[in-house]
Amino acid sequence: MRFIHELHRTHSCGGIRAADIDREVVLFGWVDSRRDHGGCIFIDLRDRDGITQVVFDSAEDPEAYAEGDRARSEWVLAIKGRVRDRAQMRNPRLPTGDVEVLATRAEVLSRSETPPFVIADDIDTGEDKRLAYRYLDLRRPALQRNLMRRSQLNQQTRTYLHDAGFIEIETPFLVKYTPGGARNFLVPARINPGHFYALAESPQLFKQLLMVGGYDRYFQIVRCFRDEDLRIDRQPEFTQIDIEASFIDEESLFALVEGLVFRLWREVLGVELLERYPSGKLPRLAFAESMAKYGNDKPDLRFGLEHTDLTELTVAHGGGGIPMLTPLAEKFASGAYRRDLPPEIVKALVVPASHTFSRSDLDKLETYVKQLGAGGLARAKVGADGRTWEQSPLAKFATPDFIAAVHEATGAQPGDLILFQFGPTDRTHMIMANLRLHLGKQLGLIPESGSGGEWNFLWVTQPPLFEYDADKKRFVAAHHMFTRPTDESAALLESDPAKVLCHRYDLVLNGFEIGGGSIRLHDPELQARVFRVLGMSDDEAQEKFGFLLDALKFGAPPHGGIAVGMDRLAMLACETESIRDVIAFPKTQKGNDLMTGAPAGVSPEQLLELHIKPVAR
Ligand code: AMO
Repeated sequence: MRFIHELHRTHSCGGIRAADIDREVVLFGWVDSRRDHGGCIFIDLRDRDGITQVVFDSAEDPEAYAEGDRARSEWVLAIKGRVRDRAQMRNPRLPTGDVEVLATRAEVLSRSETPPFVIADDIDTGEDKRLAYRYLDLRRPALQRNLMRRSQLNQQTRTYLHDAGFIEIETPFLVKYTPGGARNFLVPARINPGHFYALAESPQLFKQLLMVGGYDRYFQIVRCFRDEDLRIDRQPEFTQIDIEASFIDEESLFALVEGLVFRLWREVLGVELLERYPSGKLPRLAFAESMAKYGNDKPDLRFGLEHTDLTELTVAHGGGGIPMLTPLAEKFASGAYRRDLPPEIVKALVVPASHTFSRSDLDKLETYVKQLGAGGLARAKVGADGRTWEQSPLAKFATPDFIAAVHEATGAQPGDLILFQFGPTDRTHMIMANLRLHLGKQLGLIPESGSGGEWNFLWVTQPPLFEYDADKKRFVAAHHMFTRPTDESAALLESDPAKVLCHRYDLVLNGFEIGGGSIRLHDPELQARVFRVLGMSDDEAQEKFGFLLDALKFGAPPHGGIAVGMDRLAMLACETESIRDVIAFPKTQKGNDLMTGAPAGVSPEQLLELHIKPVAR
């Protein structure tokens, strides 16, 4: 391997252009493909920047030809040669397609066994196999593009936040376990028998302590660890752009994050979001409205199919003649159910007549919602007269008044299909939210990912501070315990906790939650009132969060922040379907690393050293 010491790379494999014709160049790369034309070998040489065609001609240079002749797929080559015009043989699909390099010297730097799959983007090799050989999968141009784009997102984020006066400070990964939030991974502390660290699920408490410490305007691009069930947009270790600032209100925080997003899209994706959002601000939607119209707090607004809440209307019509709805109406009428916080609701969604459904389409939809826990899928097609229902078991029960009222509330027109759900509030929202998305995809209302994208950003604001946990029979924090209630609703803390809203906000992009944060509780008295609602005694609070509560007593500035999920942001910015496509070494849905075999068993001796009793397996 003398060659590599003697020569220096002049270009990347994606960097040669017509302007380089007649230049002498040195390239290093992998054999992407090799074609033998008898006395002449053509090799596409690949690195992360692209592909260049290299010609090994026995008539021009027999020695170089011999090296090209023995090279095989995925071997690593060094070549020196002269750039020449491909003339009639140009390849418009390649940025380097106007030229080729005639090799005058070549050296095989490394050989490769036959790879278990072809290194190309349009292969149908199963993901498990690709993950087992991730280092080969990582050679695929699509993955290389994603990871390079992610690197740019990181770099632009750092520059933006530094320019805005933020300082980058690292916080510990090995932390004390604190309740609330996601489940933690635990790490046994060998030198403290029987004690455990938790792996930080986010730097939340530390960034608040940094504010108390006077480090206003902190950020960190930081790894977080959560022992959760995994989904297409979730990994057990993932990265946040974590931000906290003192003396900041919601408005300035939104402006800061909007500035970041606009910059990332402009600099990394080449997309000017000002064209879509000329004010430079992203739209906002109140949590309550989001739940009512879309059934969740991360609605995809690239399409309609909004829900209509028919609970009030159903109550007003005493169930509208429909036997299944009568008991529900009675519970409201008798005062057993609160109207402002109904434990059961009725919702509808209208599919316009332009989309037709066969009987079997509807049966499939019903099977789909049943899988989600629905009892069934009540439905009605609006008759041509606009006053009746057809193809519906509800038709023979529903009173004309009820039908008319439903049409008015939902805007349903003749030929439209109305789909209904009713039952416990959370379940009904969840089923309707999924049904809406399912239909959005099935009816082609959502642009395919990779289609050049429509970027639909949204802030979802002011959710409730507490959720009622029916099992525990008490209120629990809906997000985390250090979120500030809104001034207007703080007065309801003791009298009506369910109605207390808070300064929490989520940033949503195309139906994914890409960020979330809040203005914090920095006032110990208000904090104590919140703990009381949560049924937490002073002693208990002190035991669990003592260090933070103590800190808040020593001149804590008002503060707030946000964390943007970098993996989700990159997934959407790269227009891929899975978060694994933007992570170099991701885990599977089951939390396994198929390449290294993690998680793996350890020896009984290792366990004993950690003071853990081995269990028989
Ligand atoms: P939150 O828990 O909402 O807030 O997380 C912030 C963002 O992190 C991303 N995210 C994930 N991405 C991939 N895999 C996961 N398992 C995962 N979990 C979360 C999401 C989410 O919006 N400390 C607070 C922030 C704050 O209040 O400032 C926090 O962690 O995009």
